[in-house]
Amino acid sequence: MSMTSAQIREAFLAYFAERGHQRVASASLIPGNDPTLLFTNAGMVPFKDVFLGDEQRDYKRATSSQRCLRAGGKHNDLENVGYTARHHTFFEMLGNFSFGDYFKREAIQYAWEFLTDVLQLPKEKLWVTVFTEDDEAYDIWANEIGVPTDRISRIGAKDNFWAMGDTGPCGPCSEIFYDHGEEVWGGPPGTPEEDGDRYIEIWNLVFMQYNRQADGELKPLPKPSVDTGMGLERIAAVLQHVHSNYEIDLFQALIKAAAEATGVSDLNSKSLRVIADHIRSCSFLIADGVQPSNEGRGYVLRRIIRRAVRHGNMLGAQGAFFHKLVPALVAQMGAAYPELVEKQKVITDALLREEEQFGKTLERGLAILNDALADLTADVIPGEVVFKLYDTYGFPVDLTADIAREKGLTVDETGFEQAMEAQRKRAQQASQFGVDYNERLKSTQRSEFTGYTEVQGTAEVVELFADGQQVQELSAGQQGVVVLSQTPFYAESGGQIGDRGRLVVNGGSFLVEDTQYIGKAIAHHGKAESTLKIGDRVTAEIDAERRAAIKRNHSATHLVHAALRNILGEHVTQKGSLVTAERLRFDFSHFEGLKAEQIDAIERQVNENIIANHELATALMPIEEAKQAGAMALFGEKYDDQVRVVRMGDYSMELCGGTHVQRTGDIGSFRIVSEAGIASGVRRIEAVTGLAALAFAQQQQQLLRKSAALLKAEPNQLPERLQQQLDRSKALERTIAELQQQMAAQAGGSLVDNAEIIAGHKVILAQLDSVESKALRGMVDDLKNQLNSGIVVLAVANDGKVSLIVGVTKDLTSKVKAGDVINVAAAEVGGKGGGRPDMAQAGGTEVANIGAALAAAKRRIEELLR
Ligand code: ALA
Repeated sequence: MSMTSAQIREAFLAYFAERGHQRVASASLIPGNDPTLLFTNAGMVPFKDVFLGDEQRDYKRATSSQRCLRAGGKHNDLENVGYTARHHTFFEMLGNFSFGDYFKREAIQYAWEFLTDVLQLPKEKLWVTVFTEDDEAYDIWANEIGVPTDRISRIGAKDNFWAMGDTGPCGPCSEIFYDHGEEVWGGPPGTPEEDGDRYIEIWNLVFMQYNRQADGELKPLPKPSVDTGMGLERIAAVLQHVHSNYEIDLFQALIKAAAEATGVSDLNSKSLRVIADHIRSCSFLIADGVQPSNEGRGYVLRRIIRRAVRHGNMLGAQGAFFHKLVPALVAQMGAAYPELVEKQKVITDALLREEEQFGKTLERGLAILNDALADLTADVIPGEVVFKLYDTYGFPVDLTADIAREKGLTVDETGFEQAMEAQRKRAQQASQFGVDYNERLKSTQRSEFTGYTEVQGTAEVVELFADGQQVQELSAGQQGVVVLSQTPFYAESGGQIGDRGRLVVNGGSFLVEDTQYIGKAIAHHGKAESTLKIGDRVTAEIDAERRAAIKRNHSATHLVHAALRNILGEHVTQKGSLVTAERLRFDFSHFEGLKAEQIDAIERQVNENIIANHELATALMPIEEAKQAGAMALFGEKYDDQVRVVRMGDYSMELCGGTHVQRTGDIGSFRIVSEAGIASGVRRIEAVTGLAALAFAQQQQQLLRKSAALLKAEPNQLPERLQQQLDRSKALERTIAELQQQMAAQAGGSLVDNAEIIAGHKVILAQLDSVESKALRGMVDDLKNQLNSGIVVLAVANDGKVSLIVGVTKDLTSKVKAGDVINVAAAEVGGKGGGRPDMAQAGGTEVANIGAALAAAKRRIEELLR
């Protein structure tokens, strides 16, 4: 019997409707009201509360064809899509449900009748599994249905205890498998070859009995229930006599559309399958209200779209192509899912926007990745590279992992996570500069700050601390904290770092290493060089040169803020700042990296305002008045009623308590040292002023001179000369690649040259190193071609598993069948094999016996050829 996907869907729903099941329409991919779940990942999800007994419906049996998504979250198949014949991000699950009505017996009977009677699948093609401890289900299959016991396997919790998520309904299950025939490699469930494509699970019957709690405890459900799920795509493959889901009617139409949109003629390409899969998940997600974004569901959507775009790019697609598949999808699925038709335009627009956005950075990101790959010394792409691709070029980690996998590499996910974490920390610091190491200290003093106008002054010691405690006296050599009645020392605040200097007393002194607030008290942290007591009078002297540098940087920070708003726009707001003697740092909101011209323009405008030599005017006024005058204040910051306003000509006006130069000309000069993103939508500029700006310019000049000298050129010839060098290394790389190819061909050739001759026939028997099991088929085909006539037996061990393959050229298959050879070889490594007469494969676990396997293969070939 051959049926279209649409016919199968209808036959299923009709069968269960006739047996008292309510037909229920597919729910959204976004589970209503269930924060524990990212997506609807199974047919039972919309019925979760009914199973739990929290919701009553006026029916006890239901049937549905539910759209499901398995990407992100507990059930995640994204990584497998494109690599297997049957994994999808999006699929339709046919299901029948009993809410405390029937249980195991009827569930099994219905499933068996539907498969063998309605769909007329041959009984001998069906295999079943039950949960290890489920004797009841075993008994029903064996004694009531009559499935031969050699086709029933008992399997553990990993595959035969189904759970919706980390919490929620769950229970033991029983799965039905279909045998696609011996021409496909693979073994029955529970054997080492089960990963092959021969025996495919088509239907899962879950006997819902528990509600898993967050602590892992299994609480019984109010009543035993039934939840079943049959992938529509898999059963369609069975009924349409194809071995891959991608060959069914529905997917063929999508693959054709993908081929047209990308301009590809070979319909068998893996990338076309990926694209055909992804257009379904992406379109349905958008139809269900998700838009690409950087978090949660939106990020999963973005990841899938970007994976599809990359595969299109690999196929050589010119420009945006993915959105062009929407009409084909609507033609295939619109009748069953009216929401697709309704949202067609929304879907197309969203896909196009995301494609265009990613298209811009894809090429550059791939170039960065290729450079990194060329430098690789291990099989792992370093976390920083993965992070850079993510942060700068919008490559989701699984996209980089996908590219890595094609090249036999993996990505360092831990390193990536660390880089992410470091970035989060930087972003946090951006908004809260300044360590509060006074946390343990408490003071009720209030010091007067005299440092706006003075660099030194006399004052009385009013409070002393040592080791976190108030003390009366600090002795010579002791670390401690001094609070004065008044002081010119600036305590760190508003991004400006604290002053340093010394407190002179009785001919001795206290060295101030840092100044911080304790409440309203200004605390001088440092070391006593002579005894210091409460009540002593001291002369407080700040390091005036250091303070002058800090002032230049602080005033320059205000100029930068104004320049950024003038040049980038009014959306720029300050997110944090740090002013030290050496440099200034300014964090601000902006959505993209600055272009070189923008950086130049900012530097220029700041320097123009330095030259304009505006006088710095400060005034105290009520906060409302300051805001009305247009002074920039930090959003979310608490201000006193009276605020200090710092003004530089008509150019800048800000609320600020910091110390500043007298005229902007005092800043001397200004240079930006770096500009970078530190969090999503937050950029950071670092800059220098005064002589530090000159030093920076001189360093740059030196770098240029040194680089030029290396190339034996003048600095102004650098770009041209570098280009020549780059061209030259590209040419060299090409030559090396060609040579490597020639060497690889020779190595393959040497297998051919060293072929043994058995009874007049060429036979290659070899154990290979560092070859992926997946690549074996291709190698055998190549070697067979080169031999023209002969037999190839290859073995390789990967991750503790043995892969064996035997190829026989067509002219010899009447004497030697690949399957005969593979079986004796596989037996040596604890496996079983299968395949066609000209090509057979096997898996095994006993790596140490590879030599014995090859020897056994050789003996068998000798027998057969004799
Ligand atoms: N809920 C079960 C599954 O998804 C049927 O396999």
